[in-house]
Amino acid sequence: MSDKPHQNLAVIGHVDHGKSTLVGRLLYETGAVEQHVIDQYKKEAEELGKGGFEFAYVMDNLKEERERGVTIDIAHQDFHTDNHYFTIVDCPGHRDFVKNMITGASQADSAILVVAVDDGIAPQTQEHVFLARTLGIAELIIVINKMDKENYDEGKFNAVREEVTTLLGSVGFKDNLFIPASAFEGDNIKENSSNTPWYTGPTILEAINDLPVPKDATDAPLRLPIQDVYTISGIGTVPVGRVETGTMKPGMKVVFQPSGASGELKSIEMHHQEVPEAAAGANVGFNVRGVGKEDVRRGDVLGPADNPPKVAKRFKAQIIVMQHPSVITVGYTPVFHAHTSQVACTFEQIQDTQGKDLDFIKAGDAAVVWVRPQKPVVIEVASEIPELGAFAIRDMGSTIAAGKVLEIEEA
Ligand code: GTP
Ligand code: MG
Repeated sequence: MSDKPHQNLAVIGHVDHGKSTLVGRLLYETGAVEQHVIDQYKKEAEELGKGGFEFAYVMDNLKEERERGVTIDIAHQDFHTDNHYFTIVDCPGHRDFVKNMITGASQADSAILVVAVDDGIAPQTQEHVFLARTLGIAELIIVINKMDKENYDEGKFNAVREEVTTLLGSVGFKDNLFIPASAFEGDNIKENSSNTPWYTGPTILEAINDLPVPKDATDAPLRLPIQDVYTISGIGTVPVGRVETGTMKPGMKVVFQPSGASGELKSIEMHHQEVPEAAAGANVGFNVRGVGKEDVRRGDVLGPADNPPKVAKRFKAQIIVMQHPSVITVGYTPVFHAHTSQVACTFEQIQDTQGKDLDFIKAGDAAVVWVRPQKPVVIEVASEIPELGAFAIRDMGSTIAAGKVLEIEEA
């Protein structure tokens, strides 16, 4: 535990651009991971024919992740700077695992976008930037990585910076900081590197230490989207997730929606320690009297019994279409990803932002739509609870659109 303000920091970007390596390196440079662990991972990685993945193995813990050399699911790791207590959320870059990245992005206050200088903007660079923006990430720092592969060339750095600046501008991010780095060699991570004498800005650690403290969301009612449900001996069923808004305390009467399971909050754990209370921003595990593993699932949202999370029968939303091979019309039923839940929803009405009915919308369009979830889902009006009011729309392995909720017809 720590007295410093807490925030979740996501690391996003295209597959293989060095996100996990950067996180491993940051943890190593701050002393959270020791040299002998890296040495051990180096040996393991070489044995699996994955030499160079020793820092990535700090975050890639699954057997399949280590064998394939790709991140599959999000991984969390805590660490401190002088000003902040961070939970780093390492996201997968591979296109098959964007749904896990969405969960990670939905939990994050700020993010580091990693772009490999030898590859530049790649498909998931674009997709992740769009998702980061529409899912409410406030601050974005850009790391131009693998500078060692281009001889730390300033011209190469500037070229990629320009490309990325245009991309960021197109979704509304501006005045972002760009840092040239090598996660693998350790340049500009903790100390300014002599390999980039032309760069005079902050190191990555300095830059994240200078991030603003996220705004306080403890005033809103409790909302905690469930990320996973475990069974832990001696405690019982332990759902885990991030408190998005409000506070929770043992003794509170709580309900999970849409599953409807309810009971009294018995205990809360943060970092394997029981705590008397948890507030917005905290990643927790907890136990509710009488609620078993079969009663709750990923995508449920915990809230107070007397102010339960809203279950939508239909909802109205403002959306922006990022890409679509043809056009979106009434009847289209893609998957909506909101907080930790995924549900197919049917478009029932499509209008322009002035309220005029439209026959179709296509890439680049903004629209106001009514949609009907195919099964119950918790979602909130974005102006009331922004943390639970944003979503991404995906179909056939791509992000089609994203948006925020304007109005809900409750089930
Ligand atoms: P996914 O999570 O699967 O999207 O990949 P990732 O972005 O986490 O990339 P990862 O950290 O797994 O690194 C991919 C490969 O790039 C590994 O072989 C790393 O050794 C290599 N790599 C990462 N950073 C650098 C760097 O700064 N320089 C060089 N030369 N290689 C790097
Ligand atoms: Mg990774």
